Amino acid sequence: MADLQNAPSIPRRLLITGGAGFIGSNFVHHWCHCYPADRVVVLDALTYAGNRANLKDLEGKTNFRFVQGNICDRTLVNSLLNEEEIDTIAHFAAESHVDRSILAPDAFVQTNVIGTFTLLEAFKQHWFAYEKPAHHRFLHVSTDEVYGSLQPDDPAFSETTPYAPNSPYSASKAGSDHLVRAYHHTYQLPTLLTNCSNNYGPYHFPEKLIPLMCINILLGKPLPVYGDGQNIRDWLYVGDHCTALDTVIQKGKPGETYNVGGNNEVKNIDLVNLLCNLMDELANDLPVSPSQKLINFVKDRPGHDRRYAINANKIRTDLGWVPSVTVAEGLRKTVIWYLTHREWWHPLLSSDYQTYYQQVYG
Ligand code: NAD
Ligand code: DAU
Repeated sequence: MADLQNAPSIPRRLLITGGAGFIGSNFVHHWCHCYPADRVVVLDALTYAGNRANLKDLEGKTNFRFVQGNICDRTLVNSLLNEEEIDTIAHFAAESHVDRSILAPDAFVQTNVIGTFTLLEAFKQHWFAYEKPAHHRFLHVSTDEVYGSLQPDDPAFSETTPYAPNSPYSASKAGSDHLVRAYHHTYQLPTLLTNCSNNYGPYHFPEKLIPLMCINILLGKPLPVYGDGQNIRDWLYVGDHCTALDTVIQKGKPGETYNVGGNNEVKNIDLVNLLCNLMDELANDLPVSPSQKLINFVKDRPGHDRRYAINANKIRTDLGWVPSVTVAEGLRKTVIWYLTHREWWHPLLSSDYQTYYQQVYG
């Protein structure tokens, strides 16, 4: 858990959307730990990716409230902003998985575009009604995927890299980013926008690469590596993403965008090998050992982006944020977490999940 970060002058009142998902729940824990005097209201629809168990240790705490609901429900959002006197929205709620966006893009446009629009409109009305307080903030948590795909020698994505999203997921996130930018430009809404690279760590849903590999190793199932396994992602431990978002809320300049990343580019196949080695070292009685025997190259993801890399100079020089967890430390912590939290991930491998798995992996 992070140390207390930036001492706030007055307690904040936050609405955290998507707070029962992977990054959202890590952020809720971070915030409640660092700023116990602040009010935290989580709004989450509890889709397949939302899990109330991620927040179970906060249930019943005086300053914490969980509301199950949809960010597209304007009446609900209005009433939460008013009755809770919210001054800060931290917006994580999204459909987040590229493979699902290829199978069924509708929900991505609905939640990522219309949902973000609904929140912006509601927050604008609320901010105007309060006569534009200087400390109000709307943090939109976005992704590096909006910048498209890099060639091997291209410079890393900076805040001025043109948008070129390639999947329905990244296109819907790009649409939401443009709305956020426009609401600052047109109405001076105090927005903050972050574009982060691939996260990993506790509470990561089993469909994503790192948890999928950890779980399949533990179950002795094949490890599906797309294409030639040479695609590159830039990995950041989720706790470091949370400290970056905290820093942006406290010190970021309204209207600005900040890229967030850990400067950790790794090829997929190298990452899978690292996970196999860690599991072989840390787990007893694996069904198949060494785990590398499970690696299985499968059909590539349609439109698969080749390489992502983030240039995080701006957040470092302007706001003083740097990541604190190396990939070696972060992967070890993550593997141990999946090894010791079977009761968390096992129920998520439901029949709905098996249906999805069949659709993607055949
Ligand atoms: P996730 O899929 O784990 O969680 C999303 C959460 O949003 C879930 O709790 C879900 O129930 C909730 N949700 C979905 N639709 C909703 C709706 N209509 N109304 C209310 N709640 C809804 O996602 P994540 O990986 O934690 O990502 C969180 C945010 O961070 C997303 O906006 C994503 O684009 C962004 N992001 C993710 C990564 C990453 O590596 N995971 C990296 C950069 C940015
Ligand atoms: O870059 C930030 C993005 O990172 C976020 O915006 C997304 O929400 C998040 O899901 C993630 O997107 P990716 O598509 O990069 O993550 P994923 O874990 O799905 O895949 C990581 C890489 O591993 C990618 O190159 C595809 C590959 N892969 C993935 C799966 C699930 C495989 O080779 N096999 C697999 O089974």
